[in-house]
Amino acid sequence: LGSGSRPRDLAGRRVVVSAGGTREPLDPVRFLGNRSSGRQGVALAAAAAARGAHVTLVAAHLEVPVPAAVQVVPAGTAAELARAVQTAAADADAVVMAAAVADFRPSARAEAKIKKSEDPSRDPVVVLERTPDVLAGLVAEREGAAPVLVGFAAETGDETGSVLEHGRAKLARKGCDLLVLNEVGETKGFATATNAVVVLGRDGTEREVPETSKDVVADAVWDAVVPMLPPVVP
Ligand code: CTP
Ligand code: CA
Repeated sequence: LGSGSRPRDLAGRRVVVSAGGTREPLDPVRFLGNRSSGRQGVALAAAAAARGAHVTLVAAHLEVPVPAAVQVVPAGTAAELARAVQTAAADADAVVMAAAVADFRPSARAEAKIKKSEDPSRDPVVVLERTPDVLAGLVAEREGAAPVLVGFAAETGDETGSVLEHGRAKLARKGCDLLVLNEVGETKGFATATNAVVVLGRDGTEREVPETSKDVVADAVWDAVVPMLPPVVP
């Protein structure tokens, strides 16, 4: 889809997109991270800019270049990302949380590099603590219908439910307006050019987007966001 064929239906809107994966330090040279490349979030930011929005991209360790027409705010850790998103969300019409935010971080960060000692029985044990849930914070603090809040969920089916069942439950639990659900496995979803999702709406709508480019997925997400936006205040 070329930008020429895109609608300008986000003109005058401010949107925030978080992308990439956070890294939680263990010591000055090591971290706990995840496999998110940031491709889907970057595609969302580029699509919104092409549709006329002012875009703030909160970027956590992207493996892909950032689009030209967006304002980039770097964020390394879940705490930094939380702060950056909260600040940008204050005057936003929509916030899309495409970033893979760490759920847990090491509860202590060593000031100096962790070393092996002679005695293996003294090997370190990593203790984790929870990070703030950024999306849940935005849901709790929003006033009225704005901003429109979009979550992402990468799920695998298991004995307690299918991918779709986990997604529906997460949408209800998170309280956001839309949840973009994708199935993940060893090869699906991460670091690939394509994606297949179902866009779940809190109104019960479910739009399936079969495997396609991350650009087409991005436009499908904005197609779902646009009707939920409040009227433009002149
Ligand atoms: N998210 C967030 N802050 C966190 C963790 C997740 O804002 N600390 C956001 C993600 O960016 C995503 C949505 O919440 O948009 C869902 O993330 P997900 O990891 O699927 O949900 P969790 O509630 O963390 O549940 P799970 O135990 O399945 O990881
Ligand atoms: Ca999580």
